[in-house]
Amino acid sequence: MSVKYENIKEKIGSRILEDKQSLLSGKYASEIRELLEQRGVLIFPEINFTEDEQIEFTKTLGNYLPETKDGKTTMISLDESKNPGTAEYLKGSLYWHLDGTMNEKPVLASILCGKTLSKEGGDTHFSNTYAAYEALSETEQAEYEKYTVRHAPWASMFFYNQEPATDTMINYMNIGETELPLVWKHKSGRKSLVLGCTAYEVVDKSYKDSKIILNSLLNHATQDEFVYKHKWSVGDMVIWDNTGTLHRATPYDPFGGRELRRTKLEGEEAFAYA
Ligand SMILES: [Fe+2]
Repeated sequence: MSVKYENIKEKIGSRILEDKQSLLSGKYASEIRELLEQRGVLIFPEINFTEDEQIEFTKTLGNYLPETKDGKTTMISLDESKNPGTAEYLKGSLYWHLDGTMNEKPVLASILCGKTLSKEGGDTHFSNTYAAYEALSETEQAEYEKYTVRHAPWASMFFYNQEPATDTMINYMNIGETELPLVWKHKSGRKSLVLGCTAYEVVDKSYKDSKIILNSLLNHATQDEFVYKHKWSVGDMVIWDNTGTLHRATPYDPFGGRELRRTKLEGEEAFAYA
């Protein structure tokens, strides 16, 4: 590889040490894509991309998936006055998850740029679920590969709103739900785990057995050796392979000014059973 980078931990995370112009030129795009799949999360320390540059860079890596009508970046803030309608939904981001479990092809990667930060908290954690799967014994791998898991936005709502008003709960339930393999076999042949706060039940298992399977596997996948914890500096950009990692933010004051900007790369691969 000719792109300059250094690994952060053995099983997850690398820092890309290239300047803005080299990154925007796209000359390292295919190497960055390859590293992203190998390392799970890539950090571009204090690269200070403007919103337009973030979009331009996103487009060098794949198909940009705008989430707003004007095609601009998405504001990530828990402050309802800045982010009407979505701040509530973002509360789920404080728990381990992957983005787009309701989509046939979940987003390939998400890219965040740090604009203003909170004084305390608001770190972002990432877990490499390829590495977590590969560390399981062959017996465990074979067992988990049999399972189908139900995922739903309403299940993640219960993490931050345990006794919701019935209307609220029904509204979330009306968004729908989906059944996904617990072990995702990728076209590359590698396998990752599909877990997180949207996962609420293993098909054909009791409530209790479902919780044991999902919770123990989440504990396994989020052990320190598979996790990178990013402490933000203003201007940092972070990109993660959403198909082989879980992520979460640590709690922070919703009104403390924290604001990140997000772009996404369109999904290229559907969930598939091993
Ligand atoms: Fe997320």
